[in-house]
Amino acid sequence: MIYFLTASTAHLRSSLVRHGHAVGRTELSAFADSERRYRLKGEVAGRPVAIVASVLPAPESLFDLLALDRLLRENGAAEVNLIVPYLGYARQDRPAGRGEASIGIMVAELIRSLKPSRLILCDVHSERIRRALGPSAVELSALPLFAAALAKRPPEVILSPDAGSVGRARRLAKLLESEPQVAWIDKVRPRPNVAFARQLHGDVRGKDVLIVDDMIDTGGTLAEAVKLLIDQGAAGIRIAATHGIFSCAACERLAGLPVREIMITDTLPQARRPKVRRLDIVPLLADRLVG
Ligand code: R5P
Repeated sequence: MIYFLTASTAHLRSSLVRHGHAVGRTELSAFADSERRYRLKGEVAGRPVAIVASVLPAPESLFDLLALDRLLRENGAAEVNLIVPYLGYARQDRPAGRGEASIGIMVAELIRSLKPSRLILCDVHSERIRRALGPSAVELSALPLFAAALAKRPPEVILSPDAGSVGRARRLAKLLESEPQVAWIDKVRPRPNVAFARQLHGDVRGKDVLIVDDMIDTGGTLAEAVKLLIDQGAAGIRIAATHGIFSCAACERLAGLPVREIMITDTLPQARRPKVRRLDIVPLLADRLVG
């Protein structure tokens, strides 16, 4: 298997190589009008390949994914697999207001239409998106990575910062030998990027709590959850999330919170930050493909 990366996943190259995987080379250049030009360096004819490409907010990332698929197919790859560590636009899985559209479903259907031999994703945001990706899409979860990282010092409570994600907290609790309690918060979003935590269900007083979520974007959801945990007397707070987007002032916001540790995978590139522990996603994703 030869792995091909786009700019969205270039940060995973060294880990793929370290784990003994072959990484192919392409060249991206631009015409005078800035139109993107792609060229394969090397041979893929008759070989199985895997594209590792995320869909980021910047639309070029989706275009790169589509173009790389075309490049590898036209150059005779025997089998094209697709690994999407982070699938952006997934929060737009339905029109949020009048005049809007399900742009996340559009992205998922576009990816499905490529008909990769195997389509592998990591912690997809919603069931609607999962369905739009088709029955053969495989969704991997970062929860086993978190469970392994927590094994030495497991939390006493696992908290979901919104009611819709309580299943994730339960699944993580089951992966830990100590089987911690599960708690959750009623969260409301009066408008995009603004979150309010209303009520906490569960007993966290004097307990070591881990908040688990699929992503950290503005950090608003977690900041609200942490405030409520402090009000309710939690003794220690840690955070685990799969996708670290860290928009706006998320880092400053989170750095100012009394949180012991933030565990985040590198589905998206992660700068070194105080208190942040980065978990390598490559073994989880690449182990699904042979070679
Ligand atoms: C919401 O449904 C998600 O699971 C995350 O909680 C949310 O997207 C995080 O966004 P932010 O960090 O901006 O609150």
